[in-house]
Formats: sequence, structure tokens, C-alpha cells
Amino acid sequence: MPVDLSSCREQFPAMSCQVNGNPVAYFDGPGGTQVPKSVIDRMVRYLSSQNANIHGEFKSSRETDAVIEEARERVAVFLGASKEEIAFGANMTTLNFALSRAIARDLVPGDEIIVTELDHEANIGPWTALSEKGIRVLQVRVDTESCTLDMADLESKLGPRTKVVAVTYTSNAVGTINDVKRIAAMAHEVGAVCVVDAVSAAPHILIDVRDIDCDYLLCSAYKFFGPHVGVLYGKREKFRSLRAYKVRPQEDFHPEKIETGTLNHEGLAGTTAAIDFIASLGEPFVDEFAPGDVPEERGKIIAAMRAMAEYEDALLARLMDGLSDVPGLKIYGLPAGASRTPIVAFTMEGCSPAEVARELGEKGLFVWHGHFFALTLIERLGLAEKGGVVRIGIAPYNTAEEIDRLLEAIRSLASGR
Ligand SMILES: Cc1ncc(COP(=O)(O)O)c(C=O)c1O
Repeated sequence: MPVDLSSCREQFPAMSCQVNGNPVAYFDGPGGTQVPKSVIDRMVRYLSSQNANIHGEFKSSRETDAVIEEARERVAVFLGASKEEIAFGANMTTLNFALSRAIARDLVPGDEIIVTELDHEANIGPWTALSEKGIRVLQVRVDTESCTLDMADLESKLGPRTKVVAVTYTSNAVGTINDVKRIAAMAHEVGAVCVVDAVSAAPHILIDVRDIDCDYLLCSAYKFFGPHVGVLYGKREKFRSLRAYKVRPQEDFHPEKIETGTLNHEGLAGTTAAIDFIASLGEPFVDEFAPGDVPEERGKIIAAMRAMAEYEDALLARLMDGLSDVPGLKIYGLPAGASRTPIVAFTMEGCSPAEVARELGEKGLFVWHGHFFALTLIERLGLAEKGGVVRIGIAPYNTAEEIDRLLEAIRSLASGR
């Protein structure tokens, strides 16, 4: 029996929204997924009865301490980490700027950092900003045919001066999955740390920071059914020596030392609930998909990610198959079945990406257009001046019927040009 997760959509209040009498189909997940009611309820509960600042001698403050602790524990299970390795912040970009500045305190002019053309600007800008300190930033080329990283180019750029390799786990524009385990090993061979951007990977791929053996990894809960909260994993021994910029009374140990100011407590309550939601998707598949020797909570996450991948891959194949014979359409990146997440980028002859998104949006089919901050890739594809691409993202709340509706609308748009 193929995995069918579509009934989970009943848990998402947003599924009842309409545009011009059409039910909304959310294909905008890579920009941020919809949120189940359990997450919304958990945030409301926090704000209704637990709202306080931390470390006080009264009930709501103690409960707030517990909310933060619980979020660290849950995210640790989600990423295969330990809770003292999990820090929170406003979003991934803000945390990555804090990380790059902290790492840079121990760098000297002439040191080198490697970034890639496939990355979102959030994992490029914080590193290129360090060039004002005399640090050389090198960029690994992308092969524009396949939208994959040129691994030989990465190899040639690594050397004794390399201090950081910053790479995305998956492309948020075209879905390519990078071999981050191999890249982390290559970085370690020259004594560099590896920073992985897992923002677009976390909703689709089981993350195991121990297996990847990266030193830092970042993601954002709003991409996996949660609220707007950024997450930073730091390998214990690296995190311990990291010289984060912090105010004097702030804790001096990890992970708190990189958490500037008051956290988004209600967001953390929602983040815990988002991971519980994911675990609930995995529960029926634990015997089938999770190895017997992992703790129960991790087993549910493993099973959920496997189930989501199977479900989403089937929808992706249906979508890509349907798009393949639409006249005037160019699809970017790897074919279905290759090492990719369920994100499809395309352009349509005679119709700009913004026009396509607007037309589809009027029919209740929400897709993104533009460069999504994967600006270098879009430039390398020669699309920066042409409005970028249209991006379709698939989530567990999407259905085969929605894919068919989308295909029909795209076909009708293409034939009417
Ligand atoms: C791959 C990737 N990295 C980083 C980011 C930035 O994340 P945040 O919005 O949490 O700063 C995004 C956002 O879309 C993304 O897709």
C-alpha cells in the first residue's frame, strides 16, 4: 500500500480558505508551511496562561523555563542531537550572522571560507561579510545543467587556509540534495568546520547531525509546520569554545550564550508542538520504517520523514510527469527520482514567473515566483533579469487532486499564451 498522508490536512485550519470560490491549494511550502491546529493551540495556551520571562520564582516563569527546555529536547530529537547543542533565535539568517561573527573572532586575514552558488543568501551573506576583515571567501560553482554542486571545484578550493565550509543541505529553489556528509568529511580533512543550512531540508529529509558530522546546522521551524523560530545546532565541543557576542549577564555556556535577548517563548511552545505533529505522522509507520534500536521518540521522527518522503515523492512524480509535456515550459534541476526534494522550478515561455503565480493565485493555487534569495543560482541560470522562476513545493497536506488541478491550470495558461 502506498503511503497516504493526505488525511493530515484535516488538522490544518488554513485548508478551509478559499479564493474566488476555489479551495486554496498551498504549494508555497518552501516559503513557509501551513500550521496544524495543535501548534496554534499550544501557542495560544502559552500566551493565555504561561506567559512570563525566565528564571523567576513564580509559576508562569517556571513554566516558561520548562517550555524552553522542552523545545530544546524536542528539537534535539528531531535533529539527532543533544539538548545542550540546540540554540534558538529569530530565524536562521539572524543566527547565522551571529555564528559567522563569533567564528570570525578567531580568524585572521588570509584565512579562507568556502560558500556555494547553490546556497540561499542566508548562508552566503554572513560569510562574505567577513571579507571586510581580510578573510577570503571562495564560491563553489554550480553545474547549471543539473543544478548540482561541482564537487571537483569544491575539492580544488579546499586547502590549509580553509576555516569554514558553509553549504546548504538542499536547494530551496530547485530541490537538489547535496552530499553534506561527504562535504563535512572533506572540510574536516583540511581542519575546517562545516556549517550546514538545513532550512529547506528539514521538512523533507531525516536530519541526523551525528551521521552528517557537521559542526553547525541551522533550520527554521516555520518551514516544518511550526512558528517563526530559528534553530542552531552546534556540536558540543565546537559550541563550547565558540566566542559568541553576548551581554554580560547572559549565560556564558552553550547554547544560551548565542541567544541574545528574550526568546520567542510562544514560538518555542509551537515548535515543540510542530515536532509532535511530525512524530504523530510517523507513529503508524514506526514498525515498518524505524529501526528497532532507536529511542521511541526518534523512531517516530524517522518513520515520519520516511512516510513524508514516500508520499511527497509520489506527488512529485505525478507533477513532473504532468509538466513534462506542457509546451513552452522549462523545468530546472534534477528529474523526479533523483536526489532531490519535492520542489519544482520552471519558467513558461511568453509569461513571466510573476504572471504565472498571479494567474494561479487567482484560482486558489498558491505558488512562489522570483529568486527566493537563492540569488546566485538564479543569476547563474541567466534568470535574474527575467523574474526568476515559478516554484512549486509539495507538503504532506497536498493531494493528488490538487496536483491535477494545478497541472490543468498550468496547461490552460500555457495554451492561452
Ligand atoms: C535554504 C534556506 N536557507 C535559509 C533561509 C532563511 O531562513 P530564515 O527565514 O529562517 O532566515 C531560507 C528561507 O527561505 C531557505 O530556504
